[in-house]
Amino acid sequence: MQCPVAHDTRPKLLASSPALLVRYPEETLILGSAQAYTDDGLGFYQRCERLAGMVQTRFLWKPAYIVTDPAAIEDVLVNHPRSFRKPYILQRLKILFGDGLLTSDGEVWQQHRRLVQPAFGSERTEAFVEAVRWNAEDMIARWRQGEVRNVYPELIDLCMKNIAHTMFGTYDEELGRIVRALAATSHLLVKGVFDVIRPMPFRFRRELRLRVESELADLARYLDRLIKLRQRQPARDDFFGLLLARGLSRQTILDESVTMLLAGHETTASSLVWSLYLLARHPEIADELAFDLQSALGGEAPTYAELGRLSSLRATLDESLRLYPPTHRIARTIASPVWVGGHHLPAGADVIMPQWAVHRSPRWYNEPESFLPSRWTTSFRKALPRFAYFPFSGGPRTCVGYQLAWSEAAVILALLTQRFRFSLFDSEPLVPYEGLTLLPASGKLRLRLQRRQGSAQQPRITTIAAVQ
Ligand code: HEM
Repeated sequence: MQCPVAHDTRPKLLASSPALLVRYPEETLILGSAQAYTDDGLGFYQRCERLAGMVQTRFLWKPAYIVTDPAAIEDVLVNHPRSFRKPYILQRLKILFGDGLLTSDGEVWQQHRRLVQPAFGSERTEAFVEAVRWNAEDMIARWRQGEVRNVYPELIDLCMKNIAHTMFGTYDEELGRIVRALAATSHLLVKGVFDVIRPMPFRFRRELRLRVESELADLARYLDRLIKLRQRQPARDDFFGLLLARGLSRQTILDESVTMLLAGHETTASSLVWSLYLLARHPEIADELAFDLQSALGGEAPTYAELGRLSSLRATLDESLRLYPPTHRIARTIASPVWVGGHHLPAGADVIMPQWAVHRSPRWYNEPESFLPSRWTTSFRKALPRFAYFPFSGGPRTCVGYQLAWSEAAVILALLTQRFRFSLFDSEPLVPYEGLTLLPASGKLRLRLQRRQGSAQQPRITTIAAVQ
């Protein structure tokens, strides 16, 4: 497919070395930047990005660096990962995730990462894609021509089912209820922990702590029953099977399970919610994608083998993950003094790397706020600095579910785009909420569904680039 639309989408300036380091100019005496961050975190990150590749500040007394320079991010994630540990905020969330993969560090993290890695290999992903197709068809079977649906909770449920089927070999309403409750509680915990202006010493409210305990106990009881059931069956090499084969403690099984169930569904659902929102706002791009996919797939979901060939689908997803990265910032605490971006940083400070601001930087992207899947040509990808785009992070702590997540989102998006044309029911723009993942603050994405007839019409213009 040719790309006649005249967007100059080459990545812009090359990363400078060392990165420019400045002090955030609008700190207040006691709070530092805490108020600016609390008022509008996403705007704060973008202001920092515009100021310099590294911005030094403090939240109350806690020193922090907002790092948006790609080479400096590479220093943190790839070149010196041993000089960092997971940040204070994730340490607080151990109340929920315990010593699971997301929150643990050092030896414990290394052992568990090695243990679960085989559950994410390409053979498992192939089986996963089949489960995703089946569950997605089941969801769509309830969708009717012309109706308006809030697709947000449906996508959340769909992704939860997909993960449960693949990682635990089961899904039922009881597990759904437990995970939904834990996800709602995780939002409250994140809200509490991100409130930079909070009473000291920090402690979650008693009711919240009791709520976490009781919901984790529900999950633990469910897992106990599942363990008994699985012990009567032939051994399997899915995620839960790997945990069982090692004879891990009940607590470790619980920590790793709650981590996978929560980290593995809301993120992918977020990527789908924002993709559908963007496509509904840009029907010409949706039409072209539908035409492309119908020509290749005839209205059906792609198989795992077909996924690699669907360049317009890949470009659309990459562009959506650029504008609305489900994990919109990652952070580390400096464990030992370290060089980042050509500067020597002290132990104890936090380093925050906001994908939200880097992905929207005019330094790397022309028309950075526009939805332009056509920018993702092969030459653009090659020229882009490695950490100017990092929705799944990078280095040893890169997302373990990356392959699964990408395949899942691609299969569901391919199916939905071919079957329906979506338009927005609400006129107000969807505002992102800064939780653990980036989700619509309203909790709603209401779409009007129009069934596409047979094969889609040939679109009038071509906006999605061929990957040469
Ligand atoms: C579009 C979907 C997803 C996105 C954008 C995403 C993004 C990320 C990012 C940025 C990190 C690194 C966090 C950091 O460095 O602090 C991460 C880690 C992680 N992700 Fe994902 N993720 C997605 C889907 C999934 C899925 C489907 C699973 C599981 C099935 C998963 C499980 C995890 C786990 C366990 C970690 C911690 C890995 C470690 O530290 O070793 N994620 N994810």
